[in-house]
Amino acid sequence: MMKTFKATATRLEALSRNNVKILEADVTDAKALSLAAVEVAKATNNKLDYLINNAGSSTNPGLTLDQFPSPMAVEKDLIDNFKINTIGVVHSTNAFLPLLKNGSDKRVLILSSGLGDLDFTLAAETGAQASYSIAKAAVNMVVAKYAAQFKADGFVFLAISPGIVDVAATRGSEPTAGELEEFKMLSKAVGKAAPDFKGPITPEESVKMQLELLNRWTVEETGAFVSHLGNKQWM
Ligand SMILES: NC(=O)c1ccc[n+]([C@@H]2O[C@H](COP(=O)([O-])OP(=O)(O)OC[C@H]3O[C@@H](n4cnc5c(N)ncnc54)[C@H](OP(=O)(O)O)[C@@H]3O)[C@@H](O)[C@H]2O)c1
Repeated sequence: MMKTFKATATRLEALSRNNVKILEADVTDAKALSLAAVEVAKATNNKLDYLINNAGSSTNPGLTLDQFPSPMAVEKDLIDNFKINTIGVVHSTNAFLPLLKNGSDKRVLILSSGLGDLDFTLAAETGAQASYSIAKAAVNMVVAKYAAQFKADGFVFLAISPGIVDVAATRGSEPTAGELEEFKMLSKAVGKAAPDFKGPITPEESVKMQLELLNRWTVEETGAFVSHLGNKQWM
């Protein structure tokens, strides 16, 4: 059955703001994104200043690359993660590029993850979250490619790792089994890679830092991959 993303936008809907229009599209579905872009174009006079690529997810976070029951299973996991976390960003960005080109700010944020950083991975000494980490590492190159291509047009592309953010409360549900596994793995890894880690931050704290970075990032710095702190300190 097709997932309806709009049904989960209850908090956004509750804001009842007349300058907020909720549209839905699966980021793995390029056609749905094109249709959403047509609707956005109608509402914004064909322009867009900011695009935030937030959608992302992780499957089988507890498994390392050698722990899947079959070659087919590990291949599927890699492809599933790549489709949402990497190709989804390409489809979304391509769909909205024509509108962004007409915009005055031309700022594109991509939610990446410190798990996509080679140095963090080696310091954390963990093979878990493999497919997700690989897909996030790849999306950092997606960001670099768009940045290199559109720097001369005044675009700012920025990949931000949001920190370790406790989103379960915002969603109004308990953490999923996957998230619990992720926290378990991360706590172990974090002890090695970031012994001063104080615990997760709230979505409000993270988003405030992300927007501050996105607004002050310059065209000269386009294509970077940084944490919510604006550097390579991931948590
Ligand atoms: N939370 C963290 O600590 C953390 C750390 C590092 C990076 N990140 C990254 O930050 C971003 C936001 O994560 P989050 O923690 O807020 O996760 P989340 O609570 O699971 O939210 C993920 C969002 O992505 C949407 N989504 C998932 N698959 C989609 C698809 N195929 N098409 C369209 N939308 C889709 C979900 O929609 P529904 O609500 O409809 O399911 C949801 O709104 C992700 O890119 C994640 O990888 C998060």
